[in-house]
Amino acid sequence: MIDQRAESSGYETIRDWLSRRCAIHYPEAKRDLLTQRLGRVQRAYAIPSLAALAAAVGDSQQHEVQLAVIHAASTNHTYFWREHEVLEFFRASVLPDLARRPQIRLWSAACSTGDEVYTLAILIAETLGMAALEQTQILGTDISEPVISRAESGIFPARQLQSMPAALRAKYLVPVGIEQFQVIPALRRACTFRRMNLKVTPFPFRNTFQAAFCRNVLYYFAHEDQVATVNAIADVVEPGGWLFTSVTENVRDMSHRWKVLDSGIARRAERS
Ligand SMILES: C[S@@+](CC[C@H](N)C(=O)[O-])C[C@H]1O[C@@H](n2cnc3c(N)ncnc32)[C@H](O)[C@@H]1O
Repeated sequence: MIDQRAESSGYETIRDWLSRRCAIHYPEAKRDLLTQRLGRVQRAYAIPSLAALAAAVGDSQQHEVQLAVIHAASTNHTYFWREHEVLEFFRASVLPDLARRPQIRLWSAACSTGDEVYTLAILIAETLGMAALEQTQILGTDISEPVISRAESGIFPARQLQSMPAALRAKYLVPVGIEQFQVIPALRRACTFRRMNLKVTPFPFRNTFQAAFCRNVLYYFAHEDQVATVNAIADVVEPGGWLFTSVTENVRDMSHRWKVLDSGIARRAERS
C-alpha cells in the first residue's frame, strides 16, 4: 500500500533538490508534470516509490539516478533556426564586427542537442565564408548528459531541421539514415560540447566570449537563479559583448549589467 504522506514528502524533497542543484524550478502548478517525468526514472531503475527515489537522489553514491532525474526534469525541446529574428540580428549586426577579430568565440549555454550551436556555425559559414570557421570556437554546454552526446554526434531528425532554409540544409547536412541528417565535418570541427551546470558559478572559462546565447532556459529558473545566471554570464562575456535570450525572457528584470536593446537581445556595458 502506498503511503501518500511519504510520497508527497518524497516529491517535495526531489523538487527542492532540483532547485538547489540545478536551478530547475517546478511551481505547484507543474506538480503533475514533474511527477509524470519522475515516474519514467522510477520505471527505468525499478524504484517503487517517490520516497525511495528521493532517498536515491540524496545518496551521493547514486550518481546515475541523480543524472537521470536531472535529465527527466529538463525540457530539451530545440530546433535549428529557432527564433530567427534574433539570429538575423546576430548575423547582420554582430557578425560583421566579429569578422575583424583573430578569433570568434561564442557560447551556447543550455544548448540541449546542439541545434543552436550548429545554426550559429552555418550563419558564420554563410556570412563570413567557410574559412572563418577555422578561427571560430562555438562551445555548447548543457546539464544533461544524453543531450550532450547527441550534440556531439551532429545527427538530427528531419523534424528538428524544418525551420531552416532547405538550401542550407542540403548544403550543410548529409542524409545518414531514414529521416536523419548529419552536420558536415567542417562545421563540426568548430563546435565543442561539454556538460556544465549553470547553477554553479562563477563559470570556469579562462577567455571571454564575444557573445553568449542563453535561450529558453531562464524561464525554468526561479528569479534569484535567473539573476545569478545572467550576472555570471556577464563575467565571461567581454565588455560590449552580447547576450541573446529567448524573446520571452526579459533580462531587464534580472540584471543592470545588461542593456536590453530589443526582445532577446542585450549588450554588456563597456564598464560593468
Ligand atoms: C528548452 S532547452 C533550450 C535549448 C536551446 N537553448 C534553445 O533555445 O532551443 C533547455 C535546456 O536547458 C538545460 N538546462 C536546464 N537547467 C540547466 C542548468 N542548470 N545548467 C545547464 N543547462 C540546463 C536543459 O537540459 C535543456 O537542454
